Amino acid sequence: MNHKTIPAERIPELLRRMPKAELHMHIEGSLEPELIFAMGQRNRVPLAYPSVESLRDAYVFDNLQSFLDIYHAGTTVLKTEQDFFDMSCAYLARAQADNVVHAEIFFDTQTHTGHGLSAETVVNGLYRACEEAPQRYGMTASLILCFLRHLSEEEAFECLEQVLPLRDKIVGIGLASSEMGHPPEKFSKVFARARELGFRLVAHAGEEGPASYIWSALDVLKVERIDHGVQALTDPALMQRLAQDRIPLTVCPLSNLKLCVYPTLAQHNLRHLLEAGIVATVNSDDPAYFGGYINENFTQTFAALGMHSQHAYQLARNSFEASFIDTSARDKHIAHLDTVFASFY
Ligand code: ADE
Ligand code: ZN
Repeated sequence: MNHKTIPAERIPELLRRMPKAELHMHIEGSLEPELIFAMGQRNRVPLAYPSVESLRDAYVFDNLQSFLDIYHAGTTVLKTEQDFFDMSCAYLARAQADNVVHAEIFFDTQTHTGHGLSAETVVNGLYRACEEAPQRYGMTASLILCFLRHLSEEEAFECLEQVLPLRDKIVGIGLASSEMGHPPEKFSKVFARARELGFRLVAHAGEEGPASYIWSALDVLKVERIDHGVQALTDPALMQRLAQDRIPLTVCPLSNLKLCVYPTLAQHNLRHLLEAGIVATVNSDDPAYFGGYINENFTQTFAALGMHSQHAYQLARNSFEASFIDTSARDKHIAHLDTVFASFY
């Protein structure tokens, strides 16, 4: 695509209107306080907060763990397949409003099986929403199961076993939860098994943890994408590897801000990563907790870093190139992206 500069004052509109894929969002992190209260009431689950406002006011975090504690408390309201369907529909409707045309949705079953639910309840509810996404929301969606890294590899194997009858409803396997002290190599055997089973592989690495965790996610787990990965910038050899092998990073700027990875958005390294030739993408991670869905991530980060239309095009295009959709869908989305950009010239 031939780029002319689009004036700075039109960038927010461009960012909102451009079609994009979202590749890093945890569906449990899309539960808005209103929905937590509604589900808590319908499922008779008592909450530690007296009101929607007091719950939202508690969303102040100093690191990943302080967030994960409150995030896990929110998941206790999920009880039925319908709850998982409703939660997903609420996210898909919101994503559609941001011109997301394809979403790869993270979920975990271990949190919910820990609350006495079955893996089928979780996966069937989520999958039904993904199946209905084209008709209801004009977009496609698929599911990536994340193992919880604070639990053991043996527990991850049990989780994999439980979802095998649901294999066709899940496109990939990922790794999430508390990063520090739980390096990727802890899960080497279960990722090797997932690979044999034909799952696509991703892992959170280099969010708070060191660049060495990104190396081991690539070389030991053999993942195709790195979730977050912002710590790569501390390691020039790793930057070269990521750029050369075109390994995508699914970056989540507002998450990094809210979890104090960076003190301000103006200090975020997204622009550096992109300008170093890394296949970076922008995503919302846990939008109900971090102050915004994907377009809010785009508009706030562009304003803070003074990014322009060429960055916008590259990020949207990267989102399709980094996704697990087939090449014909990818080409169709990129052609649509080109048409939207052309309408701004
Ligand atoms: N689970 C939900 N959000 C997460 C994040 N930002 N990092 C690790 N695990 C998560
Ligand atoms: Zn995440």
